[in-house]
Amino acid sequence: MDINKVGVVGCGLMGSGIAQIAAQAGCDVVVREVDEALCAKGKGKIEKFLGKAVEKGKMTEEDMNAVLGRMTFTTELSGFSECDLVVEAIIENLDIKRELFAELDTICPPHTVFASNTSSLSVGDMAASTNRAANFVGLHFFNPVPLMKLVEVVRTLETSDEAFDASCAFGEKVGKVVVRAKDSPGFVVNLLLVPYLLDAIRALESGVATKEDIDAGMKLGCGHPMGPLELLDFVGLDTTMYIADIMFHEFKQYRYSAPPMLRRLVASGRHGRKTRYGFYDYRK
Ligand code: CAA
Repeated sequence: MDINKVGVVGCGLMGSGIAQIAAQAGCDVVVREVDEALCAKGKGKIEKFLGKAVEKGKMTEEDMNAVLGRMTFTTELSGFSECDLVVEAIIENLDIKRELFAELDTICPPHTVFASNTSSLSVGDMAASTNRAANFVGLHFFNPVPLMKLVEVVRTLETSDEAFDASCAFGEKVGKVVVRAKDSPGFVVNLLLVPYLLDAIRALESGVATKEDIDAGMKLGCGHPMGPLELLDFVGLDTTMYIADIMFHEFKQYRYSAPPMLRRLVASGRHGRKTRYGFYDYRK
């Protein structure tokens, strides 16, 4: 099964990156957002990223225009009726995702593979809202999508070999290293990353060191590109709390429980870089 025409639902941080790399890999891409303003905002993000690549001499202007020319923005799901693959990158809410997939199921032909970019929800639960559980996978990309080299391809109990192999081939086509994972909470990366991030908050909470020293420790001591508290600001404190809560609900283990400091920061609106204030202050 060859994937040439791709639909992306949601053009936020993750959706815009997924749409961009699919178009860069030569696929025709349809992107759906809920209104024209969000379509324009999403398109603007992609133009900005590609524009920077042109500035850095990593891409020609002609290539940038060709990539943009392969993308169509729409507010209608009907635009997905000819897609080989539809990747969902909307809000992490199981009910909303299930509703979306049930509707897509009535629009897309039987061969279309459905994929969710969820980081922690059950892919099998989403697949169960459609009549194509065999044609359903998780495709978990990492932020920033065009720069991070990994995609986790997730198979449920029902995913067919054909759909799984086609999804892995798509991951490679868009230039990523593929890690194959079962539909288990957090897959591989978040299973390990989330307790690490939460432990960094616990270390700060208990006064082991300052936030700067915790970050410097992990950057310089372990060669990580960002320290854990910097990375929390980057991923979003609200997003991390949400993922942790889902994983705690599944495993009932302390290592996935969100520390009080995380809850207080989220409650006070300090969500990280997106609100320009998290563990660090980006307002200046
Ligand atoms: N076009 C093309 N290339 C670009 C570019 C653009 N618009 N912008 C940057 N680049 C390139 C740069 O040229 C550079 O390449 P070279 O090394 O060849 O010069 C490279 O990308 C890195 O860019 P920068 O130097 O601007 O930035 P940086 O070195 O500070 O790295 C970063 C930024 C990639 C975000 C890095 O800090 C990093 O890897 N951080 C960790 C991110 C991470 O862990 N993400 C995963 C979060 S978890 C998640 O997403 C999943 C979940 O479920 C929560």
